[in-house]
Amino acid sequence: MTRAAVLVARAIFPEVLDQLRQVFEVDHNQDDVVLSPGQLRERLLGKAGALTTGSERIDGPTLQACPGLKIVANMAVGFNNFDIEAMTRAGVLATNTPDVLTETTADFGFALLMATARRVTESEHYLRAGHWHQWRYDLFAGAEVHGTTLGIIGMGRIGQGIARRAAHGFGMRVLYHNRSRLGPELERQCKAGYVDKATLLRESDHVMLVVPYSAASHHTIGARELALMKPGATLVNIARGGIVDDAALVQVLRERRIAAAGLDVFEGEPQVHPDLLTVPNVVLTPHIASATVATRRAMAQRAADNLIDFLLRGRPRTPLNPEVLT
Ligand code: GLV
Repeated sequence: MTRAAVLVARAIFPEVLDQLRQVFEVDHNQDDVVLSPGQLRERLLGKAGALTTGSERIDGPTLQACPGLKIVANMAVGFNNFDIEAMTRAGVLATNTPDVLTETTADFGFALLMATARRVTESEHYLRAGHWHQWRYDLFAGAEVHGTTLGIIGMGRIGQGIARRAAHGFGMRVLYHNRSRLGPELERQCKAGYVDKATLLRESDHVMLVVPYSAASHHTIGARELALMKPGATLVNIARGGIVDDAALVQVLRERRIAAAGLDVFEGEPQVHPDLLTVPNVVLTPHIASATVATRRAMAQRAADNLIDFLLRGRPRTPLNPEVLT
């Protein structure tokens, strides 16, 4: 029997690649060169499946150019690099990697919140630069975290993980805003209260963004929303670039209209708005919220399992558009 051909579009753990090689003809990219849209189309020609990351865009023209494609398995929970409607129309299954990264990503949301409120990177730069000569009563005095109010925008699995950490670990009051309200049992477990976005922004000491990116969530936080936040508040974005208007954020950080921000994702990443690099009161990390060795391995495994289970057995684990299976 001929083996199906698949593309692994970026470098992944060698042991996961080996599993795929046991059952498929694999075209890999262990050199990890980011493929241009044209290169991606060329490499997808004749492939039944692909393992992608958020860097590869799967859209209508790509699907038209690659009629043999049956499944694209994203190694990410977010899938805004997919045009899901076009994939469904073309009969191409899309899968992602939910669940395996929830707690790790919630941990990182908290790491970024703590680093931002307590000025961790700013103070480390000061120390490394040799500026630390003596203890001082207000040296890098930051914002309190425990016992304050956390506002979470986007209350999916990761948002709920952050809420549980905040409420149960840090004694915080948790407010949330989401497209749909959680059921009473989940609200009770997360100790979280539903409010509209403006109330959340006005009442929170810290705001955390965990909302998926779509045209509707573009610039969820812009100049108008930033103006509603408390003067001493912090803003953390572990969701996607484009959820925050980065240029508007630079402005309020410069003028200290909010205290600080922590950003793991950026508009147009891996480019970063150049002015963000010049303001001291922002913690910047390169899209690493799910990056522990165990979790990244689990994500790669989940994506590989989706390819194997679908192409060999017709039963993917975590389909995004299951209607193409019927
Ligand atoms: C990372 O950003 C993911 O969506 O998994």
